[in-house]
Amino acid sequence: MACEITGIGMYVPPRILTNHDLEKFLDTSDEWITTRTGIKERRIAEEWEKASDLGYEASKEAIEKAGISPKDIDVVIVATSTPDMIFPSTACFLSDKLKCNKPMAFDISAACSGFIYGLTLAKTFIASGQANNVLVVGTEVFSKIVDWNDRTTAVLFGDGAGAVVISRTNTDKGILSAVMRSDGSHWGSLYCPVGEKIKMRGRETFKLAIKNMAEASVKALEEANLTLDDIKLVIPHQANIRIINALAEKLNIPEEKVFANIHRYGNTSAATIPIAMYEALQEGRFGRGDNILLTAFGGGLTWGSVVIKV
Ligand code: UT7
Repeated sequence: MACEITGIGMYVPPRILTNHDLEKFLDTSDEWITTRTGIKERRIAEEWEKASDLGYEASKEAIEKAGISPKDIDVVIVATSTPDMIFPSTACFLSDKLKCNKPMAFDISAACSGFIYGLTLAKTFIASGQANNVLVVGTEVFSKIVDWNDRTTAVLFGDGAGAVVISRTNTDKGILSAVMRSDGSHWGSLYCPVGEKIKMRGRETFKLAIKNMAEASVKALEEANLTLDDIKLVIPHQANIRIINALAEKLNIPEEKVFANIHRYGNTSAATIPIAMYEALQEGRFGRGDNILLTAFGGGLTWGSVVIKV
């Protein structure tokens, strides 16, 4: 049984924190942040705003665009490293806010790779006949776990959410291949202990990100029986523009085939890919019938690539 993305939504909080704002309280500069990361600004949630609140706005739009009711959703999967609580899951809070009809609801903890892990699960639920419509959401409020005194991480992250509805279809569309991986032996490269703030060894993470996303992308293309020539757009996780450019160079992908919006939002972890998909679609960078390649990398370590026929 094939599946199709029938709706997509995104939400970012209106409050903007620019590099110049950061200069006021951190020993950093717009010049350093721009040249080392490509980030110019990021969004910051309000004190009261939780991952489920951002996820709610993005999901409402995705469900509306899919032309279904929240009651038609059978499974709610939320990818987040900044859940509302340790439990209940953010997916339970979200399904309640959306007024879904008692769906299966759970969170995925796979850091920045969480959204594409979720897509893969959505496909499995549909293929097994267990679900007709699955809501997959990446939603993060990293501003709440960033150490605002640590310039090496504070400048990198932002808040935001993206959501898709994946539905059963009779067409040839859908998730053509998915390669998901992890390696817990490198957990110390990027982590956040319970109740503490993010810690990262930047350079190590940088190198592993490029290597692993490139390998997973080659494998995902092989499994889909496609080459990069068949791909309209590559949408990578937005952690650093230098990682995105190095990945493109390693895979020999021309610039116009790679999407980046990191300058606007920074790294929103599990939300970068659905937000980038949303904006790329709006900008006409891909459309119905096109093949796209998504690739992500994050704490765990976790990584993976997915090929989708839209
Ligand atoms: O989403 C999950 C995956 N996350 C990632 O993939 C992140 C991967 N890592 C990176 O993106 C980069 O490693 C960083 C952006 C985090 C850092 O860039 P870098 O080019 O690797 O810089 P670095 O850590 O080697 O630091 C270079 C210098 C250091 O100073 P010294 O030792 O050369 O004097 C840092 O102290 O830059 C300094 N530095 C800063 N200076 C101004 C580090 N952060 C800042 C800052 N402003 N914010």
